[in-house]
Amino acid sequence: MSGLWRASVITLYPDMFPGPFTQALAGRALGEIWSLETVRLRDFGLGKHKTVDDTPSGGGVGMVLRADVVAACLDSLGVDDRPRLLMSPRGKPLNQARVRALSSGPGVILLCGRFEGVDQRVIDGRNLEEVSIGDYVLSGGEIAAMAVLDACVRLLPGVMGKDASGENESFEGGLLEHPHYTRPQSFEGVEIPAVLTSGDHAKVEAWRRSESLAVTKQRRPDLSGAKDR
Ligand code: ADE
Repeated sequence: MSGLWRASVITLYPDMFPGPFTQALAGRALGEIWSLETVRLRDFGLGKHKTVDDTPSGGGVGMVLRADVVAACLDSLGVDDRPRLLMSPRGKPLNQARVRALSSGPGVILLCGRFEGVDQRVIDGRNLEEVSIGDYVLSGGEIAAMAVLDACVRLLPGVMGKDASGENESFEGGLLEHPHYTRPQSFEGVEIPAVLTSGDHAKVEAWRRSESLAVTKQRRPDLSGAKDR
């Protein structure tokens, strides 16, 4: 057994992967620090047409992924202790705390939904954790799965170096990040805030903290860092 963080993605569109994961830091770490396997849901389809879905019981539009097909596919992966996530707009919203927990575990199994949904009996019977990446509807779970993987992989030791240690990142400490500046000193007549070039580290820290607080209160009053201050 390798010590890599293991991702398995169950999908009807395996050619969407590795997709972005040939590039940049996560791409460089693929095969070294983490592994990515795609599992073809179609291979578990039934009959000549390898059918994976059927019409919704009770009527209505769209199609539902069959419990027996999804279960056979999941069971083919064998038993391990990785969490099994179903990418779905009705899932619990993903946050940085969940990402950190996933990243510090053995890896993930991600099931990409398509169509109207997945039969509830396999969600319950195989203990799938429904996860959403935001309050909008994608055409399928693949891009959501990529978002989950990207967020987890960048936190794996050795992928990003000290940048990802994370204390100053947005959401750590329940706050959004302060604004950033770099050269040139003057851009279209707008100067870098003087405090940032003052060399006074305590003042810089105080300024960043107050900017973080202000932007969080304005944009994300729901975040913990925006409250009671
Ligand atoms: N599939 C479709 N929309 C999604 C979303 N917002 N999050 C996760 N999976 C999805």
